[in-house]
Amino acid sequence: MCGIVAACFKNGDVVPTLVEGLRCLEYRGYDSAGLAVLAPGLPVRKAKGRVEDLAQLIEQNPLPDSSVGIAHTRWATHGEPSQVNSHPHRAGSVVLVHNGILENFESLKESFVEEGREFVSQTDSEVWAALLDHEIGLVRKDGPLDPMGVMRALNRSMARARGSYGLAILVEELPGLVFFARNESPLVLGLSPDGNYVASDVQAVLARTHDFIYLLEGQCGWIDAESFHVFDRDLGEVQPEVEHLDWDAESVGKSGYEHFMLKEIEEQGIVLAQTLSSTTSSKDRILPDFRVSDDTLRSFDRIVIVACGTALHAGRLGRYILEEATGIPVDVDFASEFRYRNPLLGERDLVLAISQSGETADTLGAVKVAREKGATAVAICNVRGSSLCRLVADTILTQCGPEIGVASTKAFTAQVLAIHLLAMRVGMARRQMGEEELLRRLQLLRSSRTAIETLLSHQVRSHIAEVAKKYAHKSVYFFLGRGADYPIALEGALKLKEISYLHAEGYPAGEMKHGPLALVSEDMVVVALAGEGPVYDKVLGNMQEVKTRGAKLVVLTNTDKREAIELADDVVLIPRTDPLVAPLLHVIPLQYLAYYVALERGCEIDKPRNLAKSVTVE
Ligand code: F6R
Repeated sequence: MCGIVAACFKNGDVVPTLVEGLRCLEYRGYDSAGLAVLAPGLPVRKAKGRVEDLAQLIEQNPLPDSSVGIAHTRWATHGEPSQVNSHPHRAGSVVLVHNGILENFESLKESFVEEGREFVSQTDSEVWAALLDHEIGLVRKDGPLDPMGVMRALNRSMARARGSYGLAILVEELPGLVFFARNESPLVLGLSPDGNYVASDVQAVLARTHDFIYLLEGQCGWIDAESFHVFDRDLGEVQPEVEHLDWDAESVGKSGYEHFMLKEIEEQGIVLAQTLSSTTSSKDRILPDFRVSDDTLRSFDRIVIVACGTALHAGRLGRYILEEATGIPVDVDFASEFRYRNPLLGERDLVLAISQSGETADTLGAVKVAREKGATAVAICNVRGSSLCRLVADTILTQCGPEIGVASTKAFTAQVLAIHLLAMRVGMARRQMGEEELLRRLQLLRSSRTAIETLLSHQVRSHIAEVAKKYAHKSVYFFLGRGADYPIALEGALKLKEISYLHAEGYPAGEMKHGPLALVSEDMVVVALAGEGPVYDKVLGNMQEVKTRGAKLVVLTNTDKREAIELADDVVLIPRTDPLVAPLLHVIPLQYLAYYVALERGCEIDKPRNLAKSVTVE
C-alpha cells in the first residue's frame, strides 16, 4: 500500500526526481513521506503528512547533492502516522524503505533488543532494517563488504522474515548502488540511459522511462546507474525480460482536471473503445490471443469469480452476463472470504479473478487457493506484468491506462466489458452462442460508446452536480436496484461512502421489506435504478414504499413512463439501450453523484481518509 521509488543516476542530483516520483505514487499511501540519499552519514528527511510537506521540509533543510537515493510515501499499518514512524528507517549502516508487513517483527525485535539494539519507532519496517544490518554484520566478519555480501545478508534476512515486502536499500559503504528485494509486494525496475530506478509501480517513473522489469516473488538484487543484477531465492543470477510499456506519461497527470477521479470518469468512453479494439481482431474474433483453448473452455461446469471492492461489483454484474451467455452457473465471492473458507473446487471449475492493480493481497491469495485445488484460474487485470497476471493461466488486459484516483471508476467499466468478451468467447466455444448473436453483441458494445459519451456530457454532469448540492447535507443514502442493477447499486453506495464519508448502502430493492425499510425516514436519500425491463414495475413498488416513509427519492431511469418520474424528487435520464449494456451506463451517473457530493462536502476526493489505492496487505 505504501509507495517506493529509488534511483541511481549517472549525473545530477536525484532528489527532485524522487520527490516527483513520490507525487505520482501518493495514491498508494499519503500519511507521511520520507527520502534518504547516499552521502556520508546517510542523511534522511521525513515528514508527517503529504509529499508536499516533505518537499517543503527538503526546501528548508536541503539534502546534500547525491545521484543515489530512496524515497517512500506511507500508508500506516504498524504505528500511527508520525514523523518517527515514517520511512526511510535506519539501522547501523543500512537505511531502507519498505512496503508490506513483516509478520514476525515482534519476535525479531525482542531478540535484537536482547542484543542491545535500540528502536525508535513502532514500525515493523525498522525491524527489517535491524535484521538486514545484523546479517550484514555477520557477513562483514568474512571480509570487506561487497555487493554480493549484501546479497548473502539479504538472502538470509529474507529467509528469516515472514510476510510481504518490497524493499529499496542503501548501504553506506557501497556507493552508487540501490539494493532491492520483493516478496508479495510489487516492485519494478525502470531502465533508462540516464540511470536506473526501483519503484512500487511504473507510474512513479513513467515520465523518465518506458522500459521495465517486473520483479518476481523472492527476487532480490541491485541497480547502479548503468546496470542491474537480479537474483533468485538461491542467489542464482537471472536474466529477466525487459518489457516496453506504451502508457503515455501524460496519463499519470490530471490533464487540466481538478481531480483524477473526474478525469477517470470522463475517460470511460475511450476506455471502452480501447479495451474493445485490443481484445477483438479485425475479423471480430474475440480474445484472439487468449491462451485457454476452446476445448478447455468447454470443460468447465462452473465459473467462480473472486475479487474485492469495485472489482467484486464488476464480478457480481458479470454473473448475470456470464450465466446468460454461457449457460454455466457462476458463483461470486469476496476474495478475502473465499481464500479462508476451504472452497469446494476442482479441475472442472474456472476461477476468474478481477483486479485493477493485480496486486490486491486477498485476490492473489484466492487465486493461489484455487490453483492448489486444481482449478484453472484466469484474470481480468489492468496492469501487465502484475503479480496476478503471473499467477494465472491467462489474463484479459483492460486498457484503462493508469487509474490513480483511489475510488475506482474507469476500471469498473473496462472490467465489465472484459467479462462480456469472456462470456462471448466461452459462449461460442460451448456453442451456446452463434456467430450472428456474437456480432450483434459486439455491435451493441461498440455503439454503447455513444450513449456513454452522452452521459459524460456537460448537461448531464451539471444536472447531477445540482442534485448532489441539494442532498449533500443528508447523512444516509440507500441505493436500490434489481437484477443486473443491483451490483450497480452496490457500486454507487461504495463510491459515495469512500469519498464523501456518508453512510451509504446498496440493496436489492426487493429486500427492503425484510428489514432495511425500518431505517427509512425523512433524513434519507434513496437513489433508485428504475430501468425499463421485467422488474420495472417491482422497482416502482419499492420506490413507493420509501417515498411514503418520507425519503427523498432520486430516480435513474431510461423510460419516459410517467409513474417513476412523478414519484421522484429528482430524475436522471439515461439513454435507452439494450438491457445487455444498460448497467454499463447506469454506473456513470452514480460515479458523478459521489464525486459531486464529496466536492460539495469539501472532502479530499482523490485521497480519501484511511484508504489507499492498491491493497497489497490483508
Ligand atoms: C473502490 C476501490 C476498491 C478496489 C479494491 C480492489 O473504489 O477502489 O474497492 O476496487 O481494493 O482493488 P483491485 O481492483 O486493484 O484489486
